[in-house]
Amino acid sequence: MNISLDRKSRVPLAEQIQLALAERIRSGLYQAGDPLPSVRELSRDIGVSLMTAVLAYGKLEATGYAQRHHGKGTFVRIPSSEKDEILEEINPKPSYDWQLAIPDYLGRSMFRHVGAVNRKVAKYPLHRIKLNTEELLPIQHFQRALQLASSDQSSIGDYAPAAGDEALRIKLASYFQHKSSALTASELLITAGTQQAIDLVARTFLGPGDLVAVESPTYPGALDAFRSRGVTLIPIPTDHTGMRLDILQQLCDIHPPKMIYTLPTGQNPTGSIMSIQKRVTLLEIAQSYNTLIVEDDPWEELYFEDQPPRSLLSLDRTGHVIYMKGFSKSIAPGLRLSVIAARGSVYQRLLHAKAVTDLSTPLYNQRILLNLLEQNMNEHFDKVRGQLTKRRDEIHQLLKRHAPSVWTWTPPAAGPFFWLTSTVGVNTDALFVEAERQGVLFFPGSFFYSANPERNSLRLGFATLPEAQIHEAILTLCQLLHHVDPH
Ligand SMILES: Cc1ncc(COP(=O)(O)O)c(C=O)c1O
Repeated sequence: MNISLDRKSRVPLAEQIQLALAERIRSGLYQAGDPLPSVRELSRDIGVSLMTAVLAYGKLEATGYAQRHHGKGTFVRIPSSEKDEILEEINPKPSYDWQLAIPDYLGRSMFRHVGAVNRKVAKYPLHRIKLNTEELLPIQHFQRALQLASSDQSSIGDYAPAAGDEALRIKLASYFQHKSSALTASELLITAGTQQAIDLVARTFLGPGDLVAVESPTYPGALDAFRSRGVTLIPIPTDHTGMRLDILQQLCDIHPPKMIYTLPTGQNPTGSIMSIQKRVTLLEIAQSYNTLIVEDDPWEELYFEDQPPRSLLSLDRTGHVIYMKGFSKSIAPGLRLSVIAARGSVYQRLLHAKAVTDLSTPLYNQRILLNLLEQNMNEHFDKVRGQLTKRRDEIHQLLKRHAPSVWTWTPPAAGPFFWLTSTVGVNTDALFVEAERQGVLFFPGSFFYSANPERNSLRLGFATLPEAQIHEAILTLCQLLHHVDPH
């Protein structure tokens, strides 16, 4: 077992261990009934005293995430899974306990958690932010693109180059040209989604002890990838225009981070758009401290009123920005495609990491995207923007009318999600369990924080539910909000 501890932190080591273990359990990495290492193994593996390990397990047990069996050891327990435990007693699992002696280097995986629990039966999947099939996917464009890709034998008979299909990269270079980013195909790297792109960057440039500044709150998948490298995440608070640069500047004056991860357009989960002035300043800060910026840009096409300002990439002349444009959110998640734009040796190093990871991204999918981009996708983006704007306005009105007055929100400027915050400290982790029983799913706010999670917020996605169900879903959620007690 490998847990990175911050020995300078004011949070006691036993509590850091307890929090790290609880997070792994909540994220589904450890399952109910899994044996935890003995106190002696834990203390040896992570370099803490026996007493600290005992204290950590005591705290874990007190919070319901572990159970001690005399003479057998300590086992993972999931507070809400009593039914599973009864089933397990009737039908015990074969023992794979020996596997515990093999150390791993994993962090947490919040997405696996939300992907796993009973999701298929959810009546109102408001946790999702992908486009739904019936109304928002470019089905007709897709059929043509698929036909073309299938009729070309090389799409299935070849590997793509590690950097990605050249024709697609040339097409993407001209796509970016329209957005004022002068790039060549040799500065683009096709990946299997942005999550892979973030992971490649993390594996290439980050290791134990490195500092990474992240917006707080931010996209949990990026936190998972950075955590798995053992970095120290520095949360930078956000306001209605994104990252607080005054606080970033203060951090840089003392401890310049190696990397800054940002979502300037459609900040996930707050939906804000960073102004052009702020983008210029952010870039200047990164340049003056030789810090890399990772700009994650899945929503650029899905803004609601004002078109977002130019990307950080398009302002960058010094190769500080690693830009990622995913197509899961604006075209189709099933393609699993994204593109990294980077320059100089940063690009070369990422290309190397990509080749080591999976040789290359499936060529067939790349050809489908190429054929899609050769059609007029602006028509599709206009249509999706129109429909999502209608949904956003409807939800805003419904919440105004039906949500308890202690909940606040700002309608998103880009990205199909609302970030709701309770002013009286409702615990949305607990609310999530109750909501799930009623068929309503959302992302609890705690998922979006790198440390000391605030538990009084939640994210509601509105691209996945068919439009006809939105009214009912929001009313059901509002009823639930009326019945929760603040903690
Ligand atoms: C901000 C952000 N970045 C990256 C991703 C991952 O997207 P992809 O499907 O391209 O891996 C997501 C998915 O929700 C996201 O919200």
